[in-house]
Amino acid sequence: MPIVPQPGDAPEVHASVNPGVFTEEWLTVPVDRIPDHGIPGEAAYQIVHDEAMLDGNARLNLATFVTTWMDDYANRIYAESYDKNMIDKDEYPATAAIEAKCTTMIAKLWNAPGATVGVSTVGSSEACMMGGLAFLKRWKAARRAAGKSTENPNMVMSSAVQVVWERFCRYWDVELRAVPITLAEPVLTPKTMLDHIDENTIGVVGILGVTYTGGYEPIADLAAALDDLQQRTGLDVPLHVDGASGGMIAPFLQPELKWDFRLPRVHSISTSGHKYGLIYPGLGWVVWRSKDLLPEEMVFDVAYLGSEMPTLGLNFSRPAAQVLLQYYAFLRLGRHGYYNVQAVSQRVARHLSSAIGGMSQFELLSDGSDTPVFAWRLADDFDGVWTLPQLSDRLRWYGWQVPAYPMPADIENVEVMRIVVRNGLGMDLAHKLIADLKASIADLDAAGPLPANAPHPPTQFHH
Ligand SMILES: Cc1ncc(COP(=O)(O)O)c(C=O)c1O
Repeated sequence: MPIVPQPGDAPEVHASVNPGVFTEEWLTVPVDRIPDHGIPGEAAYQIVHDEAMLDGNARLNLATFVTTWMDDYANRIYAESYDKNMIDKDEYPATAAIEAKCTTMIAKLWNAPGATVGVSTVGSSEACMMGGLAFLKRWKAARRAAGKSTENPNMVMSSAVQVVWERFCRYWDVELRAVPITLAEPVLTPKTMLDHIDENTIGVVGILGVTYTGGYEPIADLAAALDDLQQRTGLDVPLHVDGASGGMIAPFLQPELKWDFRLPRVHSISTSGHKYGLIYPGLGWVVWRSKDLLPEEMVFDVAYLGSEMPTLGLNFSRPAAQVLLQYYAFLRLGRHGYYNVQAVSQRVARHLSSAIGGMSQFELLSDGSDTPVFAWRLADDFDGVWTLPQLSDRLRWYGWQVPAYPMPADIENVEVMRIVVRNGLGMDLAHKLIADLKASIADLDAAGPLPANAPHPPTQFHH
């Protein structure tokens, strides 16, 4: 039965679909509220499918760090497990055991010295929150034990942190001591870090893979400076490594780089399974170097799931499929396979950055030699009539999504573009991208001055 608009329904809040072969009478259904009556599955499918078709193509989305391609076996595991809830550990003990195995694998990958504790999360954001909360609770406990005030805690990090740390600080009333970065040194340095620390500092965040540029902060130098600080003053300030992207790159591509649990100052590390862990969106990990660093009060024993089950995290229900996919990827690729995948991404990133850095209009801020991510800006002597947001817009015309955005506080007047090279962006596509970038520049040069206002206002970009 065709569903007709009700009186008062604005036409633009209806979706119409032709069930079957686009020859029959069209169905119309309101979409500004749950319709009173349903429509056949194939018609509903067509509406949803067609609307979602207007999204960009995920494989050409060079803004995201998140995995957009997995192989057919992974797709099969996903389809077999999308009905499992990660919190139901008693009902799905095999999945719970796989989560524990993955945590151990990751802890070993990060050179944990002994028994550790960790958990899967929805993404790095939740994982970072857990790392930050452990710092806050341990700092408060130590202050209470020393008979000191627990007011005004602060956390020290560079102004280039991802927005999750701003959220953490705001949600839990921690002062965010953002250390200004410069174009010449767009990372936290030991000196700038030490200038911001006092007895109320619950911890420092070091970023392995700065979101804006892909570069690594000097974690070993930060750790050494904190060791020295403790020797000189007694202040014992722990370090959390936000390895959202680099946590799954450095172990394979830069195994000699000391940034992980080889440094005793590093109490906890977080990463996104769904970035260079090579898993579809919805997975993060956080690991503490030893069990005593995770305050017991953060672990909840939930009795009503069948038996006493310790749980840890901000969410309760969440999909289990991604955890199974992580296990699959670890087994399927092994360390060697991960090395191969990441090395190819890096080779493509270096190729692209050298081509873009070689263009007279641009200057590189990073070249993809840390994580396979690089950013560039307009050269100081650029005398063209277009802006990076306009170039980004023009590239979209060719199908590519390459963001243009301002750098963080203190150098926010510098606008950059960034490319995240991921599994699935091979050399063939990279050649096409360079050709399309050149064509976009030629289009903009030929168009002459465009309206002064950028196509969209500059936004903070937080992927
Ligand atoms: C350094 C850093 N930390 C945290 C996050 C948040 O990660 P997620 O999207 O997995 O929550 C990101 C995301 O890009 C990031 O780059």
